[in-house]
Amino acid sequence: MSSDQKPESWGYGLTWMITIALIAMVSIGVVKLRATAIHSSEHLKAEKEKATTLKKEMLAAQTKETEAKIAAEKKAAAEAAKPPAASPEDIAMGKTLYATCAACHGPEGTGSLNPMAIKAPNIAGAPAWYTALQIANMKHGIRGAAGDMEAMMMRPMVMNLTDKQIKQVSVYLESLKPADPKHTLKGDAAKGKALYITCVACHGDKGQGNNLPAILAPPVNNLPDWYIVSQLKKFKGKLRGAHPKDLNGMKMAPMAMLLPNEQAMIDVAEYIKSLSK
Ligand code: HEC
Ligand code: HEC
Repeated sequence: MSSDQKPESWGYGLTWMITIALIAMVSIGVVKLRATAIHSSEHLKAEKEKATTLKKEMLAAQTKETEAKIAAEKKAAAEAAKPPAASPEDIAMGKTLYATCAACHGPEGTGSLNPMAIKAPNIAGAPAWYTALQIANMKHGIRGAAGDMEAMMMRPMVMNLTDKQIKQVSVYLESLKPADPKHTLKGDAAKGKALYITCVACHGDKGQGNNLPAILAPPVNNLPDWYIVSQLKKFKGKLRGAHPKDLNGMKMAPMAMLLPNEQAMIDVAEYIKSLSK
């Protein structure tokens, strides 16, 4: 055995030490890696949970928002259908305001067929909710499209009325005795009766109208035949009930489309006339 020869046990020792050190290093590495993996998977889980909660919260907020929107729309519709509170002062104010309307609608709201002026329908005794809605629609250009001469002519007369004044003139008109409409046409009531079947759901079997917030259809049995026909033509010709804000008119417009021609409109008006008697 030469002097520079190291004892065999030394070599073994070194090999063992290196092996143990290597095993230790690898083990530490594995443990560390596993820890990182566990940590990142936990992190991922937490992130996922966070995202789910956020999504849930957003959905809940959205549902709440939609519910609030529906509730607000329902409230607005109910508000629109509510008869405007009519105090004697309001009615008196409405009478004063009506002075500007009399030239066309007649001193008692009975309408006018004056050939020297515009033909205007009777509005006395009409429900205030409907009258107020129509005046507001004309004021805001929701009724009175380009080409709707009559409504356009009335528009300047109501342009400067405040919401309160609109209610006042409407409750005044409701307080008046309804006038007999002045008819000018002659149709076939039997044919009109068959056509009127589609109108009953909203305007009622007697043409009395329906003020349920979802319907808000005015009475038609108080209207003159020429005016019924002119309005049906306007609804069919998209001069009325076509404005994106005219939610009520939009319900009516497709119904006018069901009437094939002017004769059908005259016939249905003839039947409506018979309902008021
Ligand atoms: C220049 C004439 C004129 C004046 C003034 C006038 N109107 Fe009218 N009004 C009309 C005409 C014409 C119609 C029919 C419109 C149509 O054919 O679409 C009408 C329609 C109406 C309607 C709708 C009736 C319905 O059954 O839908 C109401 C309500 C009304 N007028 C109220 C008033 C009030 C209230 C005033 C006064 C503040 C007034 N009008 C002033 C000419 C006039
Ligand atoms: C889906 C409900 C519905 C049906 C069905 C319906 N209407 Fe209407 N109608 C309305 C509403 C709502 C209005 C009021 C529109 C507005 O506020 O401008 C209206 C308005 C009218 C007017 C105008 C009244 C006025 O004073 O200016 C006439 C005329 C009329 N309808 C006739 C008919 C006839 C005829 C039928 C059947 C062929 C019919 N409607 C079917 C809902 C309906």
